[in-house]
Amino acid sequence: MAPARAFSSSWLIITSSVVLFATLCAAISPYAPGLSESYYAKSCPQAAEIIEHYVTKYLKKDSTFAGAFNRLQFHDCWVGGCDGSVLLNSTATNSAEREAHVNFGLRGIKEVDEIKAALEYACPGVVSCADILIIAARDATVKAGGPWWPVALGRKDGSESVDLLADANLPFLVFPSPC
Ligand SMILES: *[C@@H]1O[C@H](CO)[C@@H](O)[C@H](O)[C@H]1NC(C)=O
Repeated sequence: MAPARAFSSSWLIITSSVVLFATLCAAISPYAPGLSESYYAKSCPQAAEIIEHYVTKYLKKDSTFAGAFNRLQFHDCWVGGCDGSVLLNSTATNSAEREAHVNFGLRGIKEVDEIKAALEYACPGVVSCADILIIAARDATVKAGGPWWPVALGRKDGSESVDLLADANLPFLVFPSPC
């Protein structure tokens, strides 16, 4: 009797946790208005292929780019949303996010710049750097043997990038997220 009860109560806890997390994830992850997976289907149909081409090239050279792109994406999204702000350069009067302590050793910015240049050549002024980063992180993960996930596109690039905001917002310790 006792083992059976223990089994069913832990089963209940597991099941209800899964249901809770699924509900939470569904509640926070629907695409924002204007975003869609097929955002560039008409305006730059070759975008996905171009990004994948470059990501394949980088991973062949160095498989740790999968981690690098995911860290870059996480650090971009955490500060002011996924707006490409982590890619911006400092100016004479502003120290950008990339100078933040938490962003020490951040890699992949040069690579995103290179993909952006290729996309500007193919479809001038269409694909945002924020979206390039989102796709690159996903594609690199898949190529490294990880899971595929759908990405919503149509993000606009931000113009604000401040190192102190990154240091104030990004945790030095990252806890696993159910999403
Ligand atoms: C930042 O500066 C580098 C080097 O000058 C340049 O290649 C890159 O395009 C710049 N990035 C942005 C987002 O302006």
